[in-house]
Amino acid sequence: MQFSIKSSAIEALRAECVLVPVGPGRQLTAGGKSLDEVMGGALSAALARGDLQSKAGATLLVYGDARKVARAVLVATGDDAEASERNFTEAVRAGLRQAGAMSCDEAASLLHEAAVKGRDTAWKLRQQVATGRDLAYRFERLKSRKESQPVRPARVQMLVARAGLAPAQAAVARATALANGSDLARDLGNLPGNICTPGYLADAARELGTSFKIKVQVLERKQMEALKMGSLLSVARGSEEPPKLIVLQYAGGPAKQAPVALIGKGITFDTGGISIKPAAEMDEMKFDMCGAASVLGTLRAIAEMKLPINVVGIIAAAENMPGGSATKPGDIVTSMSGQTIEILNTDAEGRLVLADALTYAERFKPQAVIDIATLTGACVIALGNHRSGLFSSHDGLADSLLAAGREAGDPCWRMPLDEEYGEGLKSNFADVANVGGRAGGSITAACFLARFARQFDWAHLDIAGTAWRSGAAKGSSARPVPLLTQFLIDRAAPG
Ligand code: BES
Ligand code: MN
Ligand code: ZN
Repeated sequence: MQFSIKSSAIEALRAECVLVPVGPGRQLTAGGKSLDEVMGGALSAALARGDLQSKAGATLLVYGDARKVARAVLVATGDDAEASERNFTEAVRAGLRQAGAMSCDEAASLLHEAAVKGRDTAWKLRQQVATGRDLAYRFERLKSRKESQPVRPARVQMLVARAGLAPAQAAVARATALANGSDLARDLGNLPGNICTPGYLADAARELGTSFKIKVQVLERKQMEALKMGSLLSVARGSEEPPKLIVLQYAGGPAKQAPVALIGKGITFDTGGISIKPAAEMDEMKFDMCGAASVLGTLRAIAEMKLPINVVGIIAAAENMPGGSATKPGDIVTSMSGQTIEILNTDAEGRLVLADALTYAERFKPQAVIDIATLTGACVIALGNHRSGLFSSHDGLADSLLAAGREAGDPCWRMPLDEEYGEGLKSNFADVANVGGRAGGSITAACFLARFARQFDWAHLDIAGTAWRSGAAKGSSARPVPLLTQFLIDRAAPG
């Protein structure tokens, strides 16, 4: 589904189908009223009959002159004078679905004329792109027979007044870049563990590097050994798949500007290792590289936007398997930081690969470091599937991430990080253990990471509950690509 901006007088409009918002009291917007005139009062007549329910997302189809505007889909935005974001989004989804259900390849939209509480036109345009691209997303490359119909409508033109043309086009370009980055993250997340291996992630990064101006470097096991990354390497020991440390550098900002570093957990499959997981739903552990996918997706988005900022992406990729040489509970390894770690549970592997990736990030002297990880089941218990967990010892950084999540509709929630929570990580035999007790599991995990992030401003996003959906709609959500992209947009143009 491709979105574009069109500025044409409603009187001159030719369209197969136009999406028209209807507010409380069956109110039409300015554009809707003009269209009503063009259609000889058909819209107001249909509304006067009371056939359109007021619930957000209710639709009513009105036929017009096939030589001008062949159809209008009236879409209710709910009972509030200013629609909520959810109601607006529901209206957009319903309108596009209705247009797609008919034989319309192309639709025009006036939906952004609806009033939405606290949001401007640019947001409403971006939200239409995001919602449409979400509806259009398919992952069928591994099905020999494609089940779904071609996506309809193939093209959507959003109608704006000539005065608003340039900012509207900028909004669409930005939203399209974000959707392209999100699609990349979703594709990688949805690929199974036998295809999306650490090597596959490295190739995906290299491909991104050739399509955009991004420098890509892949460190192999040998190089990681030379760097003394004993923590990361301990996770890969049970697997036939060699681990990769993937480094991407996007230099959109001034050469002297310190970069923002994004570090992604890239466990391409997490069996738990010797501390093996139960069988139920273990297939979902193919999503344990969604942090890594979000780093690639975000870099793709900002590179397409040509954002003026420097960003380093670091992906710690490995497969966590039981095997003859796998790490055993009680094994002690030395991390790149020099800290020794007693691995009491081989299923707490995300923090082990991230520890060395965090230490590695020091060499870029970053202005801020954010790691993104499907780190703990405990975070899902704490926050469910709506908000990602945010942990940071830096209030300014935490506030920026919270604000970016709010702006992007990809929310997170700040969790505590008091030192007291880290006390359970004490080990009788090493500097630190990789697990504490069951209580506050997402916080103790963050406390573990904090020990390796003392050299810079750091935040950690636990996306275990938000990166994918389970059940009938099983699949990657691309989160937190929207949050991270918004955060970088804000950083690139502060104020
Ligand atoms: N990848 C998992 C976390 C996870 C589990 C995310 C379920 C989403 C759903 C992680 O590597 C893990 O296994 N964590 C353990 C930590 C525990 C051993 C301290 C967990 O959460 O059970
Ligand atoms: Mn695990
Ligand atoms: Zn894991």
